[in-house]
Amino acid sequence: MSTSLGTLEELPEEYRAAMADAGVAPLWPMMRNVLPHGAPKPVTATGHWSYPALRPLLLRAGELTPVEKAERRVLVLSDPGRGAGAMMATPSIYVGMQLLLPGETAPAHVHTPSAVRIIVEGQGGYTVVDGEKLPMEEGDLVLTPGGEWHDHGHEGTEPVVWLDALDLPLFVYLEGSYAKEGPLQAQRNRPDASQVEYRAAGLAPARRLGGAPRRYPMMRYPWARTEAALREMARWAGDGPVEMDFVNPETGEDVLPTMGFTAMMLRPGEAVRPPISSTSAVFHVVRGRGRSIVNGTPHEWGPKDVFTAPCFAETDHLAGEECFLVRIHDRPFQEKLGYHEERAR
Ligand SMILES: [Fe+2]
Repeated sequence: MSTSLGTLEELPEEYRAAMADAGVAPLWPMMRNVLPHGAPKPVTATGHWSYPALRPLLLRAGELTPVEKAERRVLVLSDPGRGAGAMMATPSIYVGMQLLLPGETAPAHVHTPSAVRIIVEGQGGYTVVDGEKLPMEEGDLVLTPGGEWHDHGHEGTEPVVWLDALDLPLFVYLEGSYAKEGPLQAQRNRPDASQVEYRAAGLAPARRLGGAPRRYPMMRYPWARTEAALREMARWAGDGPVEMDFVNPETGEDVLPTMGFTAMMLRPGEAVRPPISSTSAVFHVVRGRGRSIVNGTPHEWGPKDVFTAPCFAETDHLAGEECFLVRIHDRPFQEKLGYHEERAR
């Protein structure tokens, strides 16, 4: 493989002008930009958003901008490699911190990207998806998959904050991102599917001839159940991180086509050195304090913080105390591209 390729400047001026007129360009001067040797060159940089710093800014937005003027009162966590305003935290994942005040509602809408909320603080918030009312309790994972009508409301007395994670960058890249609005949905008078059909792991409603489960059968993953499962695993697991993937209870596949979610438990003092992965990741700290080093950059994190790791990052975690995190990643998308890769360290 040649190490130095021809440059644009080496070509005669009249030839360059003729190419521009014809709407073509030579590949060789640009090829290393799109196909670097050995490993990709991510633009994305690791970021860390401390919740104690973010929270006052979010509450201020609640004072400055009524929800009717914002529709979604969100502070976007922009990838530092692209700068403030970038609508992405990693190449494939957008995250934003959203505030809903008591009595507020977000209008019913549907969009092409898929979204997941992780509830950060507050009680009384809810999301309605396809008529199913999903209570939002701290740490819960609530899905609003692409193409599913949803709206939000708040019946409590304190601010509710959640982290939105969307595969928005992929849809923007595909020029396929759009939304529609409609009237608030009628709510079915019953608890959500996590409390009815899918109460116990390993059990699903009996199959009947001609009957098929919904494409997204369970929209809410209550944190209390996730934490209990992690703790039980930790009792019996050997060394190494205790991790569980959030899956579709009917298929065992990831909860969404593009984004994956993994709950992590780190024991007090535990150090974790995961393999290098082709996936990018957003970490949300549900509880606990610790330190992660991403590509040499240290992040001292605490409860409700968010930090990110670009593709192929060298990441180390050290738990200062018992910690629970949720890792949002793009493995499902990469697997669909036939691409997902891990490298030992
Ligand atoms: Fe939405």
